[in-house]
Amino acid sequence: MWEREAVLEATGRLLDSAGEGRGGTLLVVGEAGLGKTSILDHARRLAAGRARVGAGRGDPMESALPFGLFSQALGMLDGPDLRGGSGIPAATPGATFYQVLRWIEAQGPVPILLALDDLHWADEDSLALLSSLCRRIGDRAVAVMGTLRPWPPRAREVASALVGGGCAEMERLRPLSDDAALELLAVHGGGRQREAVLAQALTLCNGNCLLLEQVARSLRRGEELPEPSDTSRPWISDELLLARFATLPEPAVRLARAASAFGVRFRTRPVAEVARMDEGDLDSALEALSRSGLVRASNGGALEFVHPLFCQALYEDTAAPVRARLHARAVSVLAAQGLEAEAAEHAIRADLVGDPAAIAVLESAGRAALRSGALQTAVHHLRAALDFSGERPSPALLAVLAEALLAGGRPAEAIEVGERLLANHGLAPAERAATLRLLGHAHWAAGATDRADRHLGESAALAERAGLLPAAVEV
Ligand SMILES: Nc1ncnc2c1ncn2[C@@H]1O[C@H](COP(=O)(O)OP(=O)(O)O)[C@@H](O)[C@H]1O
Ligand SMILES: [Mg+2]
Repeated sequence: MWEREAVLEATGRLLDSAGEGRGGTLLVVGEAGLGKTSILDHARRLAAGRARVGAGRGDPMESALPFGLFSQALGMLDGPDLRGGSGIPAATPGATFYQVLRWIEAQGPVPILLALDDLHWADEDSLALLSSLCRRIGDRAVAVMGTLRPWPPRAREVASALVGGGCAEMERLRPLSDDAALELLAVHGGGRQREAVLAQALTLCNGNCLLLEQVARSLRRGEELPEPSDTSRPWISDELLLARFATLPEPAVRLARAASAFGVRFRTRPVAEVARMDEGDLDSALEALSRSGLVRASNGGALEFVHPLFCQALYEDTAAPVRARLHARAVSVLAAQGLEAEAAEHAIRADLVGDPAAIAVLESAGRAALRSGALQTAVHHLRAALDFSGERPSPALLAVLAEALLAGGRPAEAIEVGERLLANHGLAPAERAATLRLLGHAHWAAGATDRADRHLGESAALAERAGLLPAAVEV
């Protein structure tokens, strides 16, 4: 690797310290294609034989799976199953954090490396867990290494706060210098190139390692490079990547395009169903894709694009209405398999406003997230279900959203939703009493104790008038 001495040294220090019982966190920030995953791979090699490794990776389509990122990493270490729920009521914020902390404390002296790639696509709950955990591992044999792009900004904000609090180090990856880029082209480009071609390659790639590799590949094959000075084509780097698909047979492109709607990692079956491919086409498509080196085998029988940028370029190159149709089909295919958490993000991207099946999928995924204590994810899905419901959301949906908001430490929003529920005059007494009780708790959490008392009093009085048992009023 060229020009990455500082981050590689920091990686060595992190692992050495963890080996001596001093935990720490190293965050590597850089745009796509600058070498984040390669550095994480290096850390994993360095850890071999001296630390247990738990690896997880964010994915654009998995950014709303409850604890998706941490579940992968802890799963590799036989740690707690976060998706199954902590066993503690979700209304106890931080339950999952303490569960993981207790598990870490129970581990022996062999250090642990948590290698978390692409945090910018991590689910909100994993980010919250990461943030809490990194503040508490100073005296544990735990090294956390996370990589992220600067955008979307949520992960970067968490990272900056950790660095600001003295709980993490950060290394930024810069584009390669022209000298290093030329060396890379010389090594991978297959022989000497004309000055003009090299200058064109440098402008095209802007020091991006992945693009340099693609350009070197083209040079090796004697292909023409796109003209970088053409400002009417601002997505020139996408063109470089898309050119790799251009030579594939039609079924392979169709399969890859459908796959790009499933994220970087995908399973063949649902993608083939969404792409409406028959067995013959599927075989040849898979064959061509694997041979092209654009897709490779991933964990658990899944496939993955060799780099997220190939997936992104293809996805963005697909016309918006086609993308929406792919996502809409994915909702039916995944929901039919009971994979509602996976289907939920597709429903949002398909923008299925007013579609009862999509609303049901989102509500169900939201409830499941709430049960596993993934409160931010729960709110994300339930809010989307509410948006899709238009003017007449079901009282049950409003009630569970208010519950998730309150549990997630957002009482003002819980009050807003609770009031909306209360305005529904058709509410049964048990539902009304439960809503009043929730509003009481929310006002209490918001510091309005008078209002809290009033709502709790009204709830109790209504429950008594209606002859309800206390359990019927629980929210
Ligand atoms: N410093 C480097 N010098 C040369 N090649 C690199 C360097 N960093 C990464 N690469 C190559 O560039 C490609 C993209 O790197 P990757 O680690 O996947 O980037 P990221 O994870 O930041 O998107 C990989 O094929 C890798 O081999
Ligand atoms: Mg990467």
